[in-house]
Amino acid sequence: MTISSISQTPERFNMKKKKKHRATAIWDERYAGSDYIYGTEPNRYLKKQLATLPAGRILLAGEGEGRNAVYAAGQGWQVSAFDISREGRKKAMLLADQQGVQIDYRVGELHNMDYEMEQFDVIALIFTHFPEEERANIHKKLTEHLRPGGIIILEAFSKNHIQNQASNPNAGGPKERSMLITPEDLKNDFAGFEILELKETENHLSEGSHHNGFSALVRFTGRKRASAVARH
Ligand SMILES: C[S@@+](CC[C@H](N)C(=O)[O-])C[C@H]1O[C@@H](n2cnc3c(N)ncnc32)[C@H](O)[C@@H]1O
Repeated sequence: MTISSISQTPERFNMKKKKKHRATAIWDERYAGSDYIYGTEPNRYLKKQLATLPAGRILLAGEGEGRNAVYAAGQGWQVSAFDISREGRKKAMLLADQQGVQIDYRVGELHNMDYEMEQFDVIALIFTHFPEEERANIHKKLTEHLRPGGIIILEAFSKNHIQNQASNPNAGGPKERSMLITPEDLKNDFAGFEILELKETENHLSEGSHHNGFSALVRFTGRKRASAVARH
């Protein structure tokens, strides 16, 4: 039992646990087929940002079927990744095998991982949407594993994406508005970071069968300051 679970009522704790099991089951089911639902090509924003950086140690949070991890490994990065989905990991390891690269991919949530503090040069969150009540804390905890001067690269659907989902069932992204993100959320979550890029943008996504069509996105690249402790 974690410290935060002790401070909750048993009912709340059980509800949260059930919700997490449901989320894991949903992702396992989505990834159970042989198709890569977001494709096997890397996310374009991540690819563009990585091209500006020397290869080092990268952590991919909520990495799904491994398209970004495998790409980064192919570019010479030492890759760590985690996700709640075992099925996602299976597909990622298969893709890594096919492309002849090594990745360290673990199943679970961040608090189950034993990553060292300040060990990564880059942490990437590509469409990793957490429940609103957990998001800021997970983002903060992630930054503890980033070295001073290290970089966060994030792309996610913005709150305005709801309109695209209404007109296009293949637009992708969480259906709960509370899980979508605003630039302001990221400013707060990564307070203390030097913002290299933070913008809301509209773009056409063509990532497998599940991210297809006009999308409202938030993009963030930030550098952890030498003395950065996110303020909350
Ligand atoms: C939209 S998919 C994106 C997958 C991958 N980043 C990509 O771009 O192809 C979101 C992923 O986040 C994972 N996820 C959701 N909540 C998580 C959590 N609390 N910890 C780790 N992974 C989580 C899901 O299992 C899913 O694989």
